[in-house]
Amino acid sequence: MTSSTSRFLSFVVMVALAYHCHCDPDMLQDFCIADLNATTVINGFPCKPVSQVTSNDFFFNGLSREGSTANIFGSNVTAANVLSFPGLNTLGISMNRVDFTPGGINPPHSHPRATETGVIIKGELLVGFISTSNVFYSKVLKAGEMFVIPKGLVHFQQNVGSGKAQTITAFNSQQPGVVVVSLALFAAQPTIPNTVLAKTFQVDERVVLDIKSRFGS
Ligand code: GLV
Ligand code: MN
Repeated sequence: MTSSTSRFLSFVVMVALAYHCHCDPDMLQDFCIADLNATTVINGFPCKPVSQVTSNDFFFNGLSREGSTANIFGSNVTAANVLSFPGLNTLGISMNRVDFTPGGINPPHSHPRATETGVIIKGELLVGFISTSNVFYSKVLKAGEMFVIPKGLVHFQQNVGSGKAQTITAFNSQQPGVVVVSLALFAAQPTIPNTVLAKTFQVDERVVLDIKSRFGS
């Protein structure tokens, strides 16, 4: 094989791998209900024995209830991911319900392992995300309207209506993961040095201490 043929084949393999890695790995059987208590550590969760699988493993009613929005952000995320709904294991999908009090915000955050889509169920939400070129894309959406947040990008939703608001979101990962920007920077433990944050945000260290105290650290 010539070196240009082998370079071309490597390129094809890389493209094929990239294509296959754009979401969770595909399943190898009908289902694999997660055994969350298994001691074996794998990428995902081992399956519980098929003999112990019941209808209940494929149903989840956790999104039927409004979450409590009595917190500093005035919002609540109820997750239907593999941890709360083990039937999702190996299926590469999950959902959330997000409730908002008037003015409430699901603060800027990102999902390292998934693209997100959502539909507004109730109220009026300002939905926005920032691209890697620091372009801010946003729109105010009403019930029945949808949005998409490309994988890994920082995004938020804020209730800009006069009543409560609710959205249902969906992900192409059984466990999208979430990094809430403000909490990652100001509530991480052990704490990030004040000097790092002061220099990053070009503010006095007292400002950093003030923000940290609002997040309980
Ligand atoms: C909304 O952004 C969500 O993560 O459910
Ligand atoms: Mn999100």
